[in-house]
Amino acid sequence: MLKQIKETADYLRKYYSPNTFTGIILGTGLGGLVNEIDIRDTIAYGDIPNFPVSTVEGHEGRLIFGSIRGNEIVAMQGRFHYYEGYSMQQVTFPVRVMQALGIKNLFVSNASGGLNPDFKVGDIMVITDHINMFGDNPLIGKNINELGPRFPDMSEPYSRTLTNRAFEIAEKTGIELRKGVYVGTAGPSFETPAEYKFFRVIGGDAVGMSTVPEVIVARHAGITCFGISIITDSGVPGQIVEISHKEVQEVAAKAEPRMTKIIAELVASV
Ligand code: HPA
Repeated sequence: MLKQIKETADYLRKYYSPNTFTGIILGTGLGGLVNEIDIRDTIAYGDIPNFPVSTVEGHEGRLIFGSIRGNEIVAMQGRFHYYEGYSMQQVTFPVRVMQALGIKNLFVSNASGGLNPDFKVGDIMVITDHINMFGDNPLIGKNINELGPRFPDMSEPYSRTLTNRAFEIAEKTGIELRKGVYVGTAGPSFETPAEYKFFRVIGGDAVGMSTVPEVIVARHAGITCFGISIITDSGVPGQIVEISHKEVQEVAAKAEPRMTKIIAELVASV
């Protein structure tokens, strides 16, 4: 794996400016952030050695190098989901490449089902913590000491500093923000009513099918993380209705401008 990471990082280094410290995974709800990027280079995943190719509708696969308000960034437009059949190592491979390039902060977004009864569909939640319900972990296997410790600390998975700053930006711009615990599950089936209830009981505020693997690897790598989620449907008993990927995307599209504003300001602040 080290050899592959090195090979891919070496290939990308010609696009990478050495003062790039911010990586962004443009998941659901952050597609619009692309318009805030002064794009220098884009590389299709298919052209990057060792990169998996994403298969889900609405997730284009390319890596973007550029800047947001003068701040250098590298952004993944499209991520790899465990439910697509990739291994945890494949899902998190781009984060390893970002680590090798020298990224210090990782911003991630996703869509999720609301578990907290105070949340409404369309709300934006800053992720303060997560619960790994994938039944797998990207760090299983022989630890590569060059990449991080065998037993990485997870006491502050999502940066408190960045979380506080996000709330300051939200207040300044009049955007309402929630905060809470994200439960990450493998998917691809949405939850049954009993599963939503279970995830609420164990301490979740929202549930989705991504982010946790990337954040585990980023923390292993010593990268500071910030996560944000759009509540696209409700898993609260009495409010559960039939949902589809299309509806998830429609709700996410509505929240996108608010989410984009917060992330763009936050990225500019690091
Ligand atoms: N469950 C899991 N993942 C999701 C959901 C959900 O209700 N909504 C959007 N992604």
